[in-house]
Amino acid sequence: MISSKLPNVGTTIFTTMSQLAVQTGAINLSQGFPDFNGPQALLDAVGRHVSAGHNQYAPMTGLPALRQQVAAKVARSYGVTVDADSEVTITPGATEAIFCAIHAIIRDGDEVIVFDPCYDSYEPAVELAGGRCVHVQLGASDFAIDWQKLSDALSPRTRMIIINSPHNPSGALISRAELDQLAQLIAERDIYLISDEVYEHLVFDGVAHASVLAHPALAQRAFVVSSFGKTYHVTGWKTGYVIAPPALTAELRKVHQYVNFCGVTPLQCALADFMAEHPEHVEELPAFYQAKRDLFCDLLGPSRFRFSRSAGTYFQLVDYSQIRPDLNDVDMALWLTREHGVATIPVSVFYQQPMAEQRLVRLCFAKREETLREAAEKLCAI
Ligand SMILES: Cc1ncc(COP(=O)(O)O)c(C=O)c1O
Repeated sequence: MISSKLPNVGTTIFTTMSQLAVQTGAINLSQGFPDFNGPQALLDAVGRHVSAGHNQYAPMTGLPALRQQVAAKVARSYGVTVDADSEVTITPGATEAIFCAIHAIIRDGDEVIVFDPCYDSYEPAVELAGGRCVHVQLGASDFAIDWQKLSDALSPRTRMIIINSPHNPSGALISRAELDQLAQLIAERDIYLISDEVYEHLVFDGVAHASVLAHPALAQRAFVVSSFGKTYHVTGWKTGYVIAPPALTAELRKVHQYVNFCGVTPLQCALADFMAEHPEHVEELPAFYQAKRDLFCDLLGPSRFRFSRSAGTYFQLVDYSQIRPDLNDVDMALWLTREHGVATIPVSVFYQQPMAEQRLVRLCFAKREETLREAAEKLCAI
């Protein structure tokens, strides 16, 4: 019998719910991906680059033209200068960037603080690196950082903290003032940061995303991770990037070089072209997704689900305690899929220790209008 290095990892709920959605013919609002295509010009550019023969290995650090476009976007979005050569690395998805950042820093016995509910790729990467995750719960309803809990969780072994804003699954945002507070808390400590900002351009109601890149005290010790998949509606391309100071980038690249070496060439070429030709795409994204959020929330208004509108991401949490308080959220998600034809994600799977009283499921609104209307109709009928 093989002794598993990850004994607690099984099939994820995302796979389970998506499979169940296919089996039952339910509308899939579970896994986070759009049911519409990315911009046609971006898709066309891939075909063009494949036909033009751009099909061999890309540079290990990423295509220079794409790294430059990322640096230009960061300058426009956050007023910050990052060096495309020594600070930007293109990776096969944000997931690989996170994995490499963790492995570049974490050694046997190190502790990494994560906030629950927490994205599922962090902990296995920490464990494979010989580290241990220390889970700190966010506020039960506002999903804000509890500073006392964070402060209590710090130890001489704390080597890294992973933050995620806009936050999956809650949509909550970390404000600039909270970044200040975090910087103050770890100022005298040898702690690195991963800032998972894959939803950086999905922030609503006129609020500006508080990027760690624009916070010098944190940026000097941070790996800031983003995903072209989220920003350009192409999650299946698994293409992302990570920005970090040169010394951190150099260490990250040593890992990235042997995990994957490089990302997919024609995809990087297409993204570089599209970003150069359509810088407005990023500026239009908040309004694009806010319209979907508002349509979906307006349609859900008459239902018995309770919610406050998501501040960011393409996820909406809904409380079902007025409908089936007897069901835990996993059973609720199964019931919704089987009996009512809508697949969702139970929020407890994002916790090390689920909150027994919580009655929340996550819905993805990165969907066409007709999908949202059809799903809302089913949810309102419950
Ligand atoms: C919070 C968070 N981080 C990272 C990722 C992974 O991004 P990618 O698909 O680019 O690897 C996701 C995708 O769902 C996510 O929600």
